[in-house]
Amino acid sequence: MRNLNAENITDAVIEQFSGCKDERLKSVLNSLVSHLHAFLRDVEPTEQEWTDAIDFLTRTGQMCDDKRQEFILLSDTLGVTMLVDAINHQTSNPQITESTVLGPFYVADPPEAGQGDAIDWGVEGEPFFVEGRVLDDQNKPLANVVMDVWQSDSEGFYDVQKELDSASLRARFKTDEQGRFAFWTVTPSPYPIPTDGPVGKMLELTGRHPYRPAHVHFMLITEGYETLVTQIFAEHDPYLDSDAVFGVKDSLVRDYQLRTPGKAPDGRDMQTPYRYLKYDFGLKAS
Ligand code: BEZ
Ligand code: FE
Repeated sequence: MRNLNAENITDAVIEQFSGCKDERLKSVLNSLVSHLHAFLRDVEPTEQEWTDAIDFLTRTGQMCDDKRQEFILLSDTLGVTMLVDAINHQTSNPQITESTVLGPFYVADPPEAGQGDAIDWGVEGEPFFVEGRVLDDQNKPLANVVMDVWQSDSEGFYDVQKELDSASLRARFKTDEQGRFAFWTVTPSPYPIPTDGPVGKMLELTGRHPYRPAHVHFMLITEGYETLVTQIFAEHDPYLDSDAVFGVKDSLVRDYQLRTPGKAPDGRDMQTPYRYLKYDFGLKAS
């Protein structure tokens, strides 16, 4: 293993992993080394460019803490998160709801709420009533499904970005015996992903905008079914075709219907216009 050059160094590195007992780890590392070396042979970075690349990754790591995950943001903005999603959640069954990116604003164990409750807890905005059912792929309603919901406010901020004393615009529901769920919230708006770190710099240098189309996040968990992580996007949003994290799928876009004052679907008397979304989720058996 001497006199290595641009042609034979790849095989030499791969040979060093030949004694690895974990076959999966060995094949992942072999592939990583092959592709990384091929990338470098293609790009032919100068030494300064390579130093800059290491510096970028170092700053990305330094930006991470228990509230901020810049590496996930990098994965999201390079389309890597959605590629991993596509590899793991392919479905040709239109009864199964498609998945999309989790994002950095999920908080485990959100406050519990009941059928029809409001989760806007003091947040101003256009009233928005969301309801639907959770079904299996035979249209059978699924009761007691744990449904975590989270979203931005009408200015595009999540509660965790505002340093509030308590959670808002996020909650945990359970579907009833007919698989139903319902809640009042406020209409979310498009918003920029965090741009104050290396990922923001990368977007700026490459002329990309940081916006995501308006959406509500859902995570559905129940025994015997694959956990579903998804979002329902607002039709006609200007960013549907240029989502900064590549997360939009046609099947997840719906009209957030604008309704005039009057009786809402849950019987509430509305004095102001409000929006309404009805969506049935389909879970895949595991
Ligand atoms: C989100 O939708 O919350 C999100 C997803 C990826 C990156 C940033 C935000
Ligand atoms: Fe989001």
